[in-house]
Amino acid sequence: MATRPPLLEIPNKGRPTSPNSFAAPRTSTMSMASAAVRTGSSAEVRVIGLTNRADRASRLRRPLQVASVRPLSLRTIRASSSVAVEPEIQTEKVQNIDGEVFSCPICYEPLIRKGPSGLNLNAIYRSGFKCSRCNKSYSSKDKFLDLTLTAGMKDYVEVKPARTELFRSPLVSFLYERGWRQNFNRSGFPGPDEEFKMAQEYFKPAEGGLLVDVSCGSGLFTRKFAKSGNYAGVIALDFSENMLRQSYDFIKQDETILTGNLALVRADVARLPFSSGSVDAVHAGAAIHCWPSPSTAIAEITRILRSGGVFVGTTFLRYSPSTPLVFRPLRSRILQNFNYGYLTAEEIKDLCTSCGLTNYSSKIQQSFIMFSAQKP
Ligand SMILES: C[S@@+](CC[C@H](N)C(=O)[O-])C[C@H]1O[C@@H](n2cnc3c(N)ncnc32)[C@H](O)[C@@H]1O
Repeated sequence: MATRPPLLEIPNKGRPTSPNSFAAPRTSTMSMASAAVRTGSSAEVRVIGLTNRADRASRLRRPLQVASVRPLSLRTIRASSSVAVEPEIQTEKVQNIDGEVFSCPICYEPLIRKGPSGLNLNAIYRSGFKCSRCNKSYSSKDKFLDLTLTAGMKDYVEVKPARTELFRSPLVSFLYERGWRQNFNRSGFPGPDEEFKMAQEYFKPAEGGLLVDVSCGSGLFTRKFAKSGNYAGVIALDFSENMLRQSYDFIKQDETILTGNLALVRADVARLPFSSGSVDAVHAGAAIHCWPSPSTAIAEITRILRSGGVFVGTTFLRYSPSTPLVFRPLRSRILQNFNYGYLTAEEIKDLCTSCGLTNYSSKIQQSFIMFSAQKP
């Protein structure tokens, strides 16, 4: 069994001690940009021309290091273009994504980081993050970085609908991969290995990029995405603190995942802590029926995806294709009364396309649906 990294053994190392201590990274980024103006190469023109939030986010990233041999990706091209002095780095390789992928959940301004760089659990745990616009600080709590709107609030406690709160329970989080998830097979879910294979097919255009596993639960698919080596970085994101703790307990059993380009983040799908157009792939397994507002969530997912980025989700349908027409309204009413958020295949397609996603496709087996759509 792999040994635990020194996540909890380095108290406050690298964390900011005062708001001013966050000034350094911003200053050095600015001077890199101004140095670029002075020398006047083609790479510099790209730095000066950065205007949108995604580009500002990539501007905050440090120069990237080559990680491993992978097919050339859009992310590789984009990341290289934001680095003023190393344009020749555009080879057939995936780049290490640095930790500056996070944005403020309040205003979406890219967060300034103080601490060791890198998108890995140890470095993120030892870093402090701050929004220069909202003046709000964020840091890791236990094993995950808390980027919810309520992070750091002392008195206000937010209670979500039961279908979200259920998964915050330590017992449900513990049982999730110990029998709970296996039950889904009875409704037509093909099982994690097959679901992963199907998702990988959809994610082909996003390989080599940054993947966010939204509502990751205990990290069943996060671990598979991280282990595949197909992505420059994987972010496991959930609203449940206990699911994230459980994710960490599984992750620490595999040294390659534990030390890989992986982050554990607490966030609400309705307020994703990423800049617009900064993410290549979003996975949401068995999740949409647990979200308080699927339309807000899919609009958020659409916002963070870059052009060409891919969204893949699975869920339980309100009724399967074999449910007799006569029973469908009754089934809908019963599920509504119990506050279940099960949708129909038509509703899911409508949500995705109305939020501006294209190339919608889906696969259905009994009540199981896997759907995919792309940001144009
Ligand atoms: C059924 S589990 C799915 C876990 C895993 N993705 C899978 O495929 O097995 C649903 C997850 O959605 C998460 N969730 C519910 N509401 C959420 C929200 N508002 N924001 C983010 N995650 C949420 C829950 O905490 C839970 O872990």
